[in-house]
Amino acid sequence: MKWIIITIIMISSLYAGTTKEIDKKWSSNKKCEACHMKISSYWETSRHSNSHFSKNDLYKKSLEYIILKSPKLIMDEVKIDCAKCHNPRITQKYVTSDDKMLLALGITKQQEKYTKALNTEYMKNGINCIVCHNIDKIHLDKTVGSQGLNSVKFGPQGTMYGPLDDANSPYHKTEQRPHFTDDNPTLCFSCHYSTKNHNGLEVYATGKEYDEFKNKESEEGCKKCHMSEKKEGYASNFPIYGKQPRKRMVRDHKFASVDNSDIFNKNVEIKSKKEDDKYTITLINRAPHSVPTGYGLREIILQASFLDKSGKVLSTNSNILGTSWKDKRGELTIPHLATSIKSDTRLKGKSEETFYYDIPKGAKSISYKLSYRLIGSDIAKKIGVADKFFLREYIMSKKKIDL
Ligand code: HEC
Ligand code: HEC
Ligand code: HEC
Ligand code: HEC
Ligand code: HEC
Repeated sequence: MKWIIITIIMISSLYAGTTKEIDKKWSSNKKCEACHMKISSYWETSRHSNSHFSKNDLYKKSLEYIILKSPKLIMDEVKIDCAKCHNPRITQKYVTSDDKMLLALGITKQQEKYTKALNTEYMKNGINCIVCHNIDKIHLDKTVGSQGLNSVKFGPQGTMYGPLDDANSPYHKTEQRPHFTDDNPTLCFSCHYSTKNHNGLEVYATGKEYDEFKNKESEEGCKKCHMSEKKEGYASNFPIYGKQPRKRMVRDHKFASVDNSDIFNKNVEIKSKKEDDKYTITLINRAPHSVPTGYGLREIILQASFLDKSGKVLSTNSNILGTSWKDKRGELTIPHLATSIKSDTRLKGKSEETFYYDIPKGAKSISYKLSYRLIGSDIAKKIGVADKFFLREYIMSKKKIDL
């Protein structure tokens, strides 16, 4: 009897919550790079190209840690929930409760269905060209927060929406959409506005921060810093009608972050000076959101040491700018499992903060270092992150000044 019920559920659930597969013609940036060479190679340096768990050790270890700590959850269910922003072209939008039961029982057919949906070529390619450029409309509800694929309406496959109103391509249709022409951040907000974990705690809120701290007079958006200012270049290197490629005003597809650009030093200034018996270091944040922002385990570390005339260290001061996440027992955890924030010492958007240090007797110089970590070292160890990309320290500024 049990097996008859299971069979009926299996058949009825095979197609529940599915959308259409992406055609091979559009499945990865490799299909675009011959004609959009520069755009494609910039995009490959961005975290958007590493948003699938198969290419991202921190994401993969976070998923495993969530399962370890939440016995009631099934891995595929969590992966599908996260995919709505990390890989929004997924064909499987959710796991039905019937499927959850079948997955828990280890029914192979059901497992194959989800494994296939989670590991297609276009999923592994990350937040790629056809994620952004197939978005026809955006309907973000800021009170709910970003819902990734549920905040957007995709158009027909093969239509590329973009900023140009007179583009002409031999490979695909083109149409202009305002979310590419405007400076406003709507497109980015479909994933970067804010999101809460299952305990109702906000885990990313870059968009909310922007709404709070942005320049009130002008819409600054995200592209000028995270792509580039508009500049002369090519939308496509393809020679249209056998002639030269057409010159256009375009932006770089960098999606700049600390690891692939100088965005930090361009927008976070450091000033230092001696004031009587104190030494001060001021950090000035010109970004319209907190720094660090977004993923909750990023850290900025400011370390300052005073040295005597022979170069011996007399004292060292360390400040960590970041967020500390706790579970219900008060232990250090990852944002997605936290029930509270113990401390948040980040720099607020468009603000500055000064750190004061007492100059010890006999000090002849100060040496300071400002660095950035994608994940704090204690929590990295706890969840088992091994990829050096995430463990390294990015040194933003290092100086030795005579007092
Ligand atoms: C995260 C979203 C996103 C992704 C991913 C993305 N783009 Fe774009 N793309 C944009 C935005 C925003 C603009 C508008 C830039 C501007 O203001 O000129 C744009 C503009 C363009 C343009 C017009 C030229 C220009 O710079 O304005 C082309 C062509 C293009 N993208 C192709 C691609 C290709 C090919 C890929 C994959 C390698 C890709 N895009 C990935 C968001 C994205
Ligand atoms: C055979 C060459 C070719 C291939 C392959 C190609 N494109 Fe294009 N694409 C073009 C040309 C040419 C233009 C128009 C450039 C211009 O008018 O300056 C264009 C324009 C665009 C635009 C701008 C549309 C607008 O209205 O602003 C986007 C976005 C775009 N392509 C995305 C893609 C994506 C994504 C892929 C891969 C799935 C792709 N293209 C593959 C040649 C190509
Ligand atoms: C479809 C959802 C989606 C859209 C749309 C989107 N992003 Fe992202 N973005 C992500 C995800 C998910 C990541 C994290 C990827 C990873 O590292 O696993 C990310 C990472 C980034 C990063 C790197 C952050 C880091 O951790 O280093 C930057 C910068 C960024 N996005 C900027 C933008 C900008 C600017 C736009 C708008 C033009 C945009 N994104 C649009 C989902 C999106
Ligand atoms: C004035 C320049 C500026 C503007 C405008 C700006 N940012 Fe940033 N952004 C920065 C700087 C500087 C950092 C590096 C510090 C950091 O990583 O936290 C950063 C970091 C980020 C990161 C995290 C990268 C990481 O390594 O974790 C994301 C995500 C992001 N910004 C998204 C956005 C979005 C979305 C917008 C538009 C609403 C935006 N930014 C507007 C300067 C800017
Ligand atoms: C509402 C959209 C959204 C959902 C849902 C979402 N994420 Fe993210 N995630 C993002 C964005 C946007 C970033 C980039 C933020 C940044 O780095 O500033 C990101 C970054 C990350 C990072 C950092 C990756 C890196 O390369 O450094 C991890 C880890 C992560 N997410 C895990 C998860 C897990 C696990 C889930 C599901 C439980 C999940 N996310 C669900 C939007 C989302």
